[in-house]
Amino acid sequence: MPAAGEDTHFGFEQVPLADKQGRVDEVFHSVAGRYDLMNDLMSGGLHRAWKDALVTAVNPPRGDRRFAVLDVAGGTGDVALRIAAAGGAGTRTTVVDINAEMLGLGRARAAERSLAVDFVEGNAEALPFPDRSYDAVTVAFGIRNVPRIAAALSEAHRVLRVGGRFLCLEFSTVDVPGLDALYDFYSFNVIPAFGRAVARDADAYRYLIESIRRFPRPDEFAELMRAAGFRRVSFQRMTGGIVALHSGWRL
Ligand SMILES: C[S@@+](CC[C@H](N)C(=O)[O-])C[C@H]1O[C@@H](n2cnc3c(N)ncnc32)[C@H](O)[C@@H]1O
Repeated sequence: MPAAGEDTHFGFEQVPLADKQGRVDEVFHSVAGRYDLMNDLMSGGLHRAWKDALVTAVNPPRGDRRFAVLDVAGGTGDVALRIAAAGGAGTRTTVVDINAEMLGLGRARAAERSLAVDFVEGNAEALPFPDRSYDAVTVAFGIRNVPRIAAALSEAHRVLRVGGRFLCLEFSTVDVPGLDALYDFYSFNVIPAFGRAVARDADAYRYLIESIRRFPRPDEFAELMRAAGFRRVSFQRMTGGIVALHSGWRL
């Protein structure tokens, strides 16, 4: 990982490490209002199935047993609301995100559905929570936007209780012959066009696509998880490798 003062990538661009978070924040500030609609359009609704697989892996208890889940870079609460709906009265779900606008949309969605989810502004690289305070930590399509991925992983590990599980859903590497070319065409042509037409920001969606290509391969990401202290690290590819669900435990 780059040290402070070094460059990193923002999509396919080289940028000073210190500038990346500001650029990422501009992207999500620009797309926040259309974010959930765009997810449905871009993935043809598939993001729902990927997120459901994540919630199944979290497996929140149905009854009163206390179970605390932290959804990092949780944005508009799409994953947290699913966890809260799946869990029983003992499940407490918290979203932490750096972008107040995304959180505001999430708060409104939770209120509309009468689901008790806490929304907290904070940075994945320095979580505003005590050590060993969560039974599960999740992150969906968020970690590739965080400038210092190693710091975010070590924070996720710090706030987990011993025996707790970290689950990370992220775009991955398509290596099914035929599907890879189709996926490239769709990513670099169709998605920016959707971005231009629906979210009125093709550049934001170009960044999202480029950032997917710069994200480590799943085996490399598994190594980063091990380096952060996670054990029994594994991953499961879904939809031909378009996404991977990574899992690790604090033991
Ligand atoms: C692609 S969205 C994912 C939102 C949500 N997890 C979902 O699956 O719908 C990425 C989110 O990461 C957040 N983010 C980016 N950098 C962050 C950081 N350093 N700490 C916390 N959140 C961050 C953005 O504000 C944005 O809400």
